[in-house]
Amino acid sequence: MTDSSLKSGTEDFLRDTAAAVEQELATILPQSTERDSRLFDAMRYGVLGGGKRLRASLLRSCAHVAGADDRNAVFAAAIVELVHGYSLVHDDLPAMDDDMLRRGKPTCHIAFDEATAILAGDALLTLAFELSADSRLNGDPGIRCEFSSALAAAAGGDGMVGGQMVDLRSENRPESDLELVKLISMKKTAALIAFSCEAGAILAGQAGQEKRRSLREFGFEIGLGFQIVDDLLDVCGDEKKLGKAVGMDAKRGKATFVTSLGVEGARREADSLFTCALARLEGMGKRTRTLRGITEILRDRQS
Ligand code: IPE
Ligand code: IPE
Ligand code: MG
Ligand code: MG
Ligand code: MG
Repeated sequence: MTDSSLKSGTEDFLRDTAAAVEQELATILPQSTERDSRLFDAMRYGVLGGGKRLRASLLRSCAHVAGADDRNAVFAAAIVELVHGYSLVHDDLPAMDDDMLRRGKPTCHIAFDEATAILAGDALLTLAFELSADSRLNGDPGIRCEFSSALAAAAGGDGMVGGQMVDLRSENRPESDLELVKLISMKKTAALIAFSCEAGAILAGQAGQEKRRSLREFGFEIGLGFQIVDDLLDVCGDEKKLGKAVGMDAKRGKATFVTSLGVEGARREADSLFTCALARLEGMGKRTRTLRGITEILRDRQS
């Protein structure tokens, strides 16, 4: 990144968003009572106190671009982080990626047990949709409906969950080609990231319609770029910085951008996607500065 004031301003925004969303999540997640403590503790464990809050920051920043209310955006950001948190709790399960470290801590099924982690994930997802009907998201029920249906499309069988299925089915299949790896990543990762961007425009209602498609396309570009960098960091990254084990994709025989393009090819593909995304922002008006900063940070990230 060449513009150092853009970098530090964006880092301030990321910190501020992480704090605001943490507070929102701490309030909306159920508090443990004596009777229900195990499930609620596991839900809070899976979502609070970690993560880059990337999807939250994108949502809030895109809401700014589209002219939506910031308090609505923080509430929406917390909803997206619930869905993302659930996806990680389930992704780490023994039947899926079988990982023991996440966000620098034992994964949810290690800290609790497998059944509790499954149920905590289920309850996080359900809570997200309950909150999509809450007027804190937006005063207009039509907008809440739009948000909820777009979130379901991004997270469900034709989005994140569908991508996870293909990801698992492609393990230990050397014939998995670039097109398949792209399809997996568009669904398992880019769909929810694109939704996070599009949601900023959805929350702005009629005023956001013009920007909605561009923000969604932008989200797919950086979402795919994000997964390529995730695949690269699994090979070249540092476990301490990442807070998760490295080398796991190769161990599980995953089809990734690194297996299909090699390290240098994958890096080139990611750079080209981030360059396209930055060019797209050029045509989107004056309020895209922070979004540009986030894009550059994602391109250059080591954690
Ligand atoms: C990890 O997502 C899962 C992928 C889609 C690659 P993040 O890297 O955004 O995870 P946290 O939220 O920062 O822990
Ligand atoms: C996960 O992709 C995508 C999700 C929907 C959670 P990965 O399996 O590559 O994510 P990490 O590397 O475990 O965070
Ligand atoms: Mg996975
Ligand atoms: Mg995984
Ligand atoms: Mg990964």
